[in-house]
This record gives sequence, structure tokens and C-alpha cells, in this order.
Amino acid sequence: MKLTDEQEYILRGEEGPVLALAMKTLVSMGEAFSAERLVAIKSAHLAGSFGSTRFKGYLHILDQLVAEGVRVRVPTTVNPRPGRALGLLNRIVFSKQGKLEQLLDALGVTPNYSCACYDEANVPAFGDRLCWSESSAVQFANSVLGARSNRNSVLVDICAAVTGFTPEFGYLLDEHRRGQVLVKLQVDRMDASALGYILGRRVTTGVPVIEHYDFTRAELKNLGAAMAATGAVALFHVEGLTPEAPDLQTVFDGEPRDIITMRQEDLDSVRASQSHKYNAVVFGCPHLFYEEVIDLAEHFSGCRVTKPTYLCTSPTVLQRLQAEGTADLLHQAGVNIVDFCPVAAFTPKRRTRVLTASGKCQYYLHNSGYGTVADSLRACGVRK
Ligand code: F3S
Repeated sequence: MKLTDEQEYILRGEEGPVLALAMKTLVSMGEAFSAERLVAIKSAHLAGSFGSTRFKGYLHILDQLVAEGVRVRVPTTVNPRPGRALGLLNRIVFSKQGKLEQLLDALGVTPNYSCACYDEANVPAFGDRLCWSESSAVQFANSVLGARSNRNSVLVDICAAVTGFTPEFGYLLDEHRRGQVLVKLQVDRMDASALGYILGRRVTTGVPVIEHYDFTRAELKNLGAAMAATGAVALFHVEGLTPEAPDLQTVFDGEPRDIITMRQEDLDSVRASQSHKYNAVVFGCPHLFYEEVIDLAEHFSGCRVTKPTYLCTSPTVLQRLQAEGTADLLHQAGVNIVDFCPVAAFTPKRRTRVLTASGKCQYYLHNSGYGTVADSLRACGVRK
């Protein structure tokens, strides 16, 4: 790889051995992926936000960075907290949460604690190069905003944050951003999460281009997150909607290598058949946008949920909901409005059977089932 003088300087250890190690990690990764150079990034987003007792190595590395006085060089946000307060087992499993947050604070990380960082705390512009590591956030940044990030891992994200560089390969390059698979829709009732769930499985690592449909911003988030969970998709386009797909000719740069058709029965096949059998209901993976909470809140108004129900959103949105009184109205309906990651929070509680309107949450959470928003509202007793 061809490095700049500044990158060579850091790699030689002139700014300390820990930063040199971070730079060496990025160079090794670049070489493994045949990158020709490291490029400057506009921001980083970290996925290492759970203070689990198992993540000793991660805490040790952050400790070393802090001990050398290292700080992030680009705006850097971080994923949600893991729901430590949700029972004794969670308090034990995530007992390092305080320590982790102290270290992130000392590194200068923005304490947004949300995977929907692109909603407010870390909003990239079209074409920005990033080093993000939350798959749903990478997907949104690439597909909906037209920024450029690979699906990075925990620790690679922090190496990029403290050096300000990432290896240039994959989704950072024009040639890997073209469409590959055309997705035709024969759907009467759109269910973006279910569509993403099936598409991730069918497309796996390709770049799907969905024929035009007027998805909302929230639907694009939920579609992309599910796709990134069931497959390794980190970029999709929607004809005439997302920024790199003004039309099919432009986005494909030739003919699609494959064409698939998604039918209503494909989407319906993701839904759990016995949604009443679940004993908790979860919305918000990725974290709900403010407008999603407001839409959901209308259904709970004047009702009382019949089983534990959780709406997961960012701390910033939660504060706004508290300030305007919406959080109180939700509490009166028996709804828990929280700012944790439901997958982390419910993983230690293996006996809880969660019904969720998130394709991503269903994919990762043991003992869970998928339901549309309407199915999930019915399951918690507020819709017939
Ligand atoms: Fe976010 Fe946790 Fe889901 S990080 S995308 S709420 S698995």
C-alpha cells in the first residue's frame, strides 16, 4: 500500500505505540483486501457498546488507548446500551458497562448510544467516506444517504476513529456500488422489514436494486437492517428513490446479473403463525425514529397493553418524548419506552419469547418471532 507521510509517521510509532498498532491494523486489513491506500474518513461509528464481562480484550485495548492519552480524530458515535437494568442477570452480564462508558468518554466518543446515529448525532453527506461498524447503520449510510462505508468490525472501527483513516476497497469504490440484482415487486401490502428479511437471504452479498416503491425513511431503515442481518448486504438501491439510482440504466451500468420477483406470499411467509404465544412485544431495532414512536403512540392512546411491550429508541428521542409528555402517555398504557438495544437486553433472558416487528431483531434474538406492526399491536392487546 502507498502511505502518506502522515500515515508513515504514525505507523513508525512517532505518536506512540498504541496508535502505531492501530495504524498497523488498518494497513494489514488494507493489504488483505488489496487496497491501494488509506483514505481520510469523515466519521466513525462504533458497535462495541455492551459492557459485557466477556469482552475483556476489548476493554483492555480501550484502556491502553486511554492510558496513552489517545482521542478520536473524527466525530465518532456509538451503538445502544445493552439494557443493564432489565433484571439481575443483565446487571451481572453487563457489569462492565460503567467502565466501558468511562473509557469511551475519555476517548472523546459522542455519547449518543444509538444505532440510528444517522438520525441526528452523526449525519453523513453524499459521498462521505466513513468507517462504521453497525451493519444497519452502514446500510442506511450507503443506501439512503449515498455515503461510503464497508461493514467494519468492532476494533477496526476504533482503529479508524483514532487515526482518521480507513483502507480504500469494497463499497468505497465506484465499481462496487453498481446494482447487480433487479428486484421486482408483486406486493399488495408492503412490509419493508419482511422484504428485507427475504432479500438478505436471496441476495446474500450482492447489491439489490428494488423497482420503484415510495418507501418512507423509516421503512428504508427497517428494510435495510433486516437485509443486512439475514445476508451480508451493505448497499441496496431503490429505483427513483435512493440517491445513486435515479433510473435503472444508471444504477446497473449494463444488464442485471439476475432478476428476482418478490411476491406477497414471500413477505407473509416471514410472519409467525401464532403471535399470541409470545410473552413480550418489541418495536425498535434499529432504534425507532421520533416519527415512528408518534405513529405507534396513537395505537396505544386510551388502551392498556396486555403483555410487556417495549418501544426502543435513542436517548435523544426519548428525552424529547419525555419533555413533551408522550412518554407519560405511553407509560399510562403500560408501554415501556426505553433506549437500550433489545437484542442485547433480551439475550440473557432466554425464557422470554419475544414477538417483534423488526426483521433484524427476530433474526438475532433466540426464541423470537416476527410479526408485522399490526400483528405486534394485536399481540399486545391494543388492536383487534
Ligand atoms: Fe440497533 Fe441493537 Fe437492533 S444495535 S439495530 S437495536 S440489534
